[in-house]
Amino acid sequence: MTSKPIIAPSILASDFARLGEEVAAIQAAGADWVHVDVMDGHFVPNITLGPDIVKALRPHATIPFDVHLMISPADPYLEAFREAGADIISVHPEAGPHLNRTLKRIRELGAKAGVVFNPSTDPSVIQWMMDEIDLILVMSINPGFGGQKFMHSQLRKIEALRAMIDASGKAIELEVDGGVTPETAPLCVAAGATALVAGTAVFKGGPAKYAENIRALKGG
Ligand code: DX5
Ligand code: ZN
Repeated sequence: MTSKPIIAPSILASDFARLGEEVAAIQAAGADWVHVDVMDGHFVPNITLGPDIVKALRPHATIPFDVHLMISPADPYLEAFREAGADIISVHPEAGPHLNRTLKRIRELGAKAGVVFNPSTDPSVIQWMMDEIDLILVMSINPGFGGQKFMHSQLRKIEALRAMIDASGKAIELEVDGGVTPETAPLCVAAGATALVAGTAVFKGGPAKYAENIRALKGG
């Protein structure tokens, strides 16, 4: 693969007191998507933000908002996130009993539908649903916090999912989230990833560094 990966900075690592400016700054620095981590203190052991904040941020950028829901249940909140301006909405299979129904609902709302794999989640979970999916997000950490160390064990899973996507013939993005740095990014791309989430690696050093940090993640 020769094309450069999509970079989706996770605003979890941004300055929460200046969120609107941070979103504008990453777009100006070359970010492709804005990754929004939504946590409920129940599905994961941390609490972040909800649809009202997504709505408030939406006018600060024109690039797609990639909303990663770490909440259970997710279904009651899909419409609110879509109305707030989410372009991609991704859910964890463990967050509810009917993944297929949830994905259909996301598409009905006009958003792209994503499935997120925890480190222990098996690729077979989507085997019979390749037609319903626009994006696959592989967690290379346990969800809940930024700044964790990349789990190399997940590279084999990225390869397995790449093979499943290629066999399906569908245009499904393969995104990786957690511990992505200029060192681990090329490993993800070599395994078949097309999109990379990065919090710490984008926001470190402050706004003057964002463009350089994003370039480094794209491979220079
Ligand atoms: C964690 C989130 C990630 C996180 C990544 O649950 O899903 O998006 O912000 O942070 P870094 O890039 O610092 O590992
Ligand atoms: Zn995330």
